Amino acid sequence: MTPAPIAVALDAPDLDTAARWASLTAPHVTTLKVGLELYLRYGPDVVAAVREAAGPAPVELFLDLKLHDIPATVAGAARSVAGLRPAYLTVHASGGPAMVRAAVEAAPDARVAAVTVLTSFGDADLDVIGLAGPASDAVRRLAVLAVGAGARALVCSPREAAAVRAEVGPDVVLITPGVRPEGAAAQDQTRVATPRGALAAGADVLVIGRPITGAPDPAAAAAEIARSLRD
Ligand code: C5P
Repeated sequence: MTPAPIAVALDAPDLDTAARWASLTAPHVTTLKVGLELYLRYGPDVVAAVREAAGPAPVELFLDLKLHDIPATVAGAARSVAGLRPAYLTVHASGGPAMVRAAVEAAPDARVAAVTVLTSFGDADLDVIGLAGPASDAVRRLAVLAVGAGARALVCSPREAAAVRAEVGPDVVLITPGVRPEGAAAQDQTRVATPRGALAAGADVLVIGRPITGAPDPAAAAAEIARSLRD
């Protein structure tokens, strides 16, 4: 069975849990995502542990560090993790074009994925931080900026995927968190869609965390979402 275009968000409190989730879900998905919670606690060890737990499954590593700093610092950070050979490395598009380009040049083998607007954000949240909304406009503006600076992937809500695709064309990988199977709780995500809805909107990779990792049987949950995408 071909694995589904899902990046499982391994937002685990410890290495053993992350490794268990990785081994259970790797046969069903293309990508495993290591984020701040694990990376800040364990550093490169977590990448090795996840790869080992995934076994022979040909999964890609998504390093979701959401870098955001001055260009020189982001370049240094990207260089620090480039040796881990992540397929994707995230930066915040709101860091601006020079910062995005610094990451692209420092980690040339990774696809730098620019986060547009967090999927936990709604229009009111943008207002509070003084960013011109609505969210859909901010997402499009940041997407164009990031791709112009060399980002080869973008992180956006499935609700904005179609509009972003229209702006940036077919070659940019669109990654969408905020994916919730029919009937699942949205939790802290605001701009959500179902897995099939996200793909139909033009997403290439669906980031799914708690609906899989919080399920009593993460392997079964991943397999079921993968099956729903094949139907
Ligand atoms: O558990 P859940 O499916 O909500 O996990 C979503 C994952 O996607 C989390 O790891 C979160 O950090 C990440 N993410 C997000 N929104 C973005 C970028 C990344 O939710 N814009």
